[in-house]
Amino acid sequence: MAQRREAAMTMAEEIQQLKKEKNAVILAHYYVAPEIQEIADVVGDSFNLSKEAVARPEQTIVFCGVSFMGESAKVLNPEKTVLMPDPEADCPMAHMADGETIARMREKYEDLAVVCYINSTAELKTHADVCVTSSNAVKIVRALPNKNIFFIPDRNLAHYVAQQVPEKHFVFNEGYCPIHDKMAAEALKQCKAAHPQAEVLTHPECPRSVLDLSDYVGSTTGIIDYARKSSGTSFIICTENGVRHQLEKENPDKTFYFLQPEPVCTDMKRITLEKVLHVLKTGENQVELPEDLRVQSCVPLDRMMTLGK
Ligand code: 13P
Ligand code: SF4
Repeated sequence: MAQRREAAMTMAEEIQQLKKEKNAVILAHYYVAPEIQEIADVVGDSFNLSKEAVARPEQTIVFCGVSFMGESAKVLNPEKTVLMPDPEADCPMAHMADGETIARMREKYEDLAVVCYINSTAELKTHADVCVTSSNAVKIVRALPNKNIFFIPDRNLAHYVAQQVPEKHFVFNEGYCPIHDKMAAEALKQCKAAHPQAEVLTHPECPRSVLDLSDYVGSTTGIIDYARKSSGTSFIICTENGVRHQLEKENPDKTFYFLQPEPVCTDMKRITLEKVLHVLKTGENQVELPEDLRVQSCVPLDRMMTLGK
């Protein structure tokens, strides 16, 4: 155990040194393992990380997250090198919509806006009018001139946004996050009964029945901000368990409970220190996209960056 910790220390130090030598920045999502969050320059939600990928001056980005995140970073920064510690780390939901269905919907509704959650492949984004993340979806959908919204791929986030923006007509798609969609109202009720004082903070990828029992619904950053600002001392967190690291780090006097068994995104957890070190040393696993695909998928992403400001 002590030996393993020592090895991790050495690897973390080597990563820090190589990062400077190679003019690289390490971006990490809140769902990756704690030791990865610790070596990152920026830990954030999908929207923060997209903004940081653009704002940071370093020429190389090591993206500790799943493939749609690396793709978005590359789309927005074609001149930068984007390295993925594990190119197999993929979000299943990112594939849960298709161009054919979108084309059919466009024929059916004249003024349709195709709103694409950033958790989607670059190919899927080429069919969209605008991208959103869980932290800006309500704001962006509200700002669109269109009445009809086809929200892809996540049905749960779509239903949440539809509830917040009742003036729009929504067409729903059948995609979902396998980790969040599994969270059940029954498990939450049990957790609430065991911890009646705890406030419930929930990600909008969870089913409606879980959202309805929650005190706050928001992105990973939103959940972390809420817990920091709240005068409450205990919280039930309905999202992936990687957020526990920042929550406990920022709030040592507060207690955080997760639904059981704790929700884990196995794709996010594929990122290891060994893999980060490997891509920094070798420059392997660069994100590469055909230029026409990059240009087309950049349109809805750029629109999100403008409307999300
Ligand atoms: P956030 O945008 O809230 O970080 O969520 C990303 C994600 O993958 C949720 O499952
Ligand atoms: Fe995709 Fe869900 Fe993992 Fe987020 S938690 S990356 S939506 S599978």
